[in-house]
Amino acid sequence: MRLDKLIANAGLASRSEISKAVRGGRVTVNGTPAKTPALQVDPDKDNIVYCGKSVNYREHIYIMLNKPEGYVSATEDKNAPVVTDLLLPADGARVHPCGRLDKYTLGMMVLTDDGEMSHRLLAPARHVPKTYRYRCESPLSESDKERLCEGVHIEGGYLTKPCEMRLLTEFEGEITLHEGKYHQIKQMFGAVGNKITYLERITFGPLVLDSALDRGEWRYLTDDEIALLAEAAK
Ligand code: URA
Repeated sequence: MRLDKLIANAGLASRSEISKAVRGGRVTVNGTPAKTPALQVDPDKDNIVYCGKSVNYREHIYIMLNKPEGYVSATEDKNAPVVTDLLLPADGARVHPCGRLDKYTLGMMVLTDDGEMSHRLLAPARHVPKTYRYRCESPLSESDKERLCEGVHIEGGYLTKPCEMRLLTEFEGEITLHEGKYHQIKQMFGAVGNKITYLERITFGPLVLDSALDRGEWRYLTDDEIALLAEAAK
């Protein structure tokens, strides 16, 4: 494969940055400065170093982001910043959010360029569970909780699938969904005469939001986390 494609795939830089680095002699292949970004290299055999960093080939990238409020879960939007703006430009141009969070919902987002994996994780038949921490405006009773867990009617008369809840107080708790309808939790609380005032996603399938990530921070998934996601997508 082409040298610049391999380095761009590793999320280290954009193609134009790589071209500049090649011209400046800052990209080596097996210890020799590369003459052109179009050089054909073998990711399994060649030792490639970009600006002093050893490059590991990855076919896909997988990112965990702690979404701050005010960002749209998309790759572009006319009126507001989007979650991919928070990433390195080369990664941001490549990945898409795996599922959506509302503009004012915070927390766990997975972004990837692995469209097949995203599709499998969110397909209705095996939609991975997602847990949210919420706060609501009015006290939530045990009978409201039961109604929410059994299913309530939302927009278009849709009956939500059974879900799990853990009440921490009358005003806050956790809710785990196995599907993802538009504004689902807000709509569900609306259906029992309540209102969500805070919403943060804390898990996505087998993955838990990394508490070391501040709002707006991100990191690549580890190999173990990628393997867990792949297993969940089977
Ligand atoms: N439910 C909502 O209402 N909003 C989200 O962002 C996610 C689930």
